[in-house]
Amino acid sequence: MSSKTFYLETFGCQMNVHDSEKVVGTLVSEGYRQVETVEEADLVLYNTCSIRDKAEQKVFNRLSDYKKYKKQGKTFGVLGCVAQQEGEKIFERAPYVSLVAGSASYRRLPEMLRQLEAAESAAREIPFDRLRAGSPPAAAPPPAKAGGLPENAGLRDDASVVATAGTSAGKSGSRKPAAESLIRITGLDDRETDECFETEFTARSNPHRGYITIIEGCDKFCSYCVVPYTRGKERSRTSESVLAEARQMADLGYTEIQLLGQNVNSYKDPEGKPAGSNKNSRKTFAELLAAVGEVPGIRRVRFTTSHPRDFGRDIVDAIDAVPTLCDHVHLPVQSGSTRVLDAMQRLYTRDQYLERIAWMKAAKREISITTDVIVGFPGETESDFAATLDLLEEVGYDAVFAFKYSPRPNTPSLKLDDAIPDEEKARRLEVLMAKQREIQIASYKRYIGTHCEVMVEGKNEARAQYSGRTSHNKTLNFTAPAGASPKTGSYASILVTGSFPNSLLGELVV
Ligand code: 5AD
Ligand code: SF4
Repeated sequence: MSSKTFYLETFGCQMNVHDSEKVVGTLVSEGYRQVETVEEADLVLYNTCSIRDKAEQKVFNRLSDYKKYKKQGKTFGVLGCVAQQEGEKIFERAPYVSLVAGSASYRRLPEMLRQLEAAESAAREIPFDRLRAGSPPAAAPPPAKAGGLPENAGLRDDASVVATAGTSAGKSGSRKPAAESLIRITGLDDRETDECFETEFTARSNPHRGYITIIEGCDKFCSYCVVPYTRGKERSRTSESVLAEARQMADLGYTEIQLLGQNVNSYKDPEGKPAGSNKNSRKTFAELLAAVGEVPGIRRVRFTTSHPRDFGRDIVDAIDAVPTLCDHVHLPVQSGSTRVLDAMQRLYTRDQYLERIAWMKAAKREISITTDVIVGFPGETESDFAATLDLLEEVGYDAVFAFKYSPRPNTPSLKLDDAIPDEEKARRLEVLMAKQREIQIASYKRYIGTHCEVMVEGKNEARAQYSGRTSHNKTLNFTAPAGASPKTGSYASILVTGSFPNSLLGELVV
């Protein structure tokens, strides 16, 4: 067992946040201890996002900031989408990075960590003059014993391990300082895997609500999107395994579960792997959703994210039938113009999208609908943009996440002329957000005077206000009468007394 410490910083989406919970659990099970600052850590990891250029730049800023720490013998690793996208180029840009691994390789993380430790201890042991004597960059010799490492663990042919000498001079026979050696462990070749990253060691950061991944990767290949190239092909977990995890979480006291996937609607229950499992128990996404909602102890189930092409009416039926399924659906539209949707390779028209909205509006409970929009996609005209603005009005979203189009490596739309200047993209973004703000100001008022159930998320002591989240996924800040102090993770009934563009205000009902 190692007594090493690690620091992990996460960028990007909920999938990354949850991957990090699994990475943390895996590291802890390997004997590492998590610390809160880079200064305290032996191993510094960044779980990265490359969905837009801005997100990608963050990790390179971090790596340049922390160059000095390498001198203190810290080890750096880059995980996630930038790691997968840039691959070994990261070693060129940041030569002090020792580990580069994409999410499809996390199953092999314990093995990579052991390789890293072995290569580090080997680099410390190799006499410097031997390395300077003209030997080519050498694969780290299999260490005799490094953290219980099997003898050949450093020699997998699908992960590279290289410990080479630096070029700086040293005294003959001196030991090479670890800080100067180049150790390069990669996990980049697993994007065609059928396996998901399943681990019993997830370190969930919230004790009341938690994520469960049901599907990894994406096969949709929307023309602007880097995800199919970074997260690899679509693969689902068995419903049995998802349900087992949900039951386990309920036993631990979790009451809210969020099912995760890049496109949960294309979930395909693989044939159960445990011996004797029965083909008939395979579930559609809607059936899995309902089954998770029926796990005793679970009070709320959410899911994200959905793709309109695969979003079936059976999901709305499930929400109608199972009260624990939250009345909120995030259904990214990206554009209100069929012409642009076509260029984005989204595989649906504006009318088909609106048909799905109509299913939700006909549900027994009022379903809150939110979306993602990209402005300034190549070729988006003023009238395409006007169609998106018009769609916002027609649907009446409760929240819109809007982004300026960002050309991404490998994607088909990179070949299109990104002719819309950044200022124009920024203008469209502003116009769109201003419109959406007006829509929300008007629509959030409708809750005033009603009662909403919230899961209590915390207290702002300075304001003497609690905050909670409704089943609709809205933030509801509320006060409680003297003597009442609702606990984080509990459920409470709140009378809504006021509204803002992005949140509600209320009073605890006792
Ligand atoms: N440029 C801008 N936004 C993008 N998104 C995905 N790829 C890009 C890109 N290249 C947005 C989409 C998606 C959300 C997660 O990020 O709206 O739904
Ligand atoms: Fe990207 Fe489209 Fe897959 Fe979503 S569905 S992850 S936008 S390729």
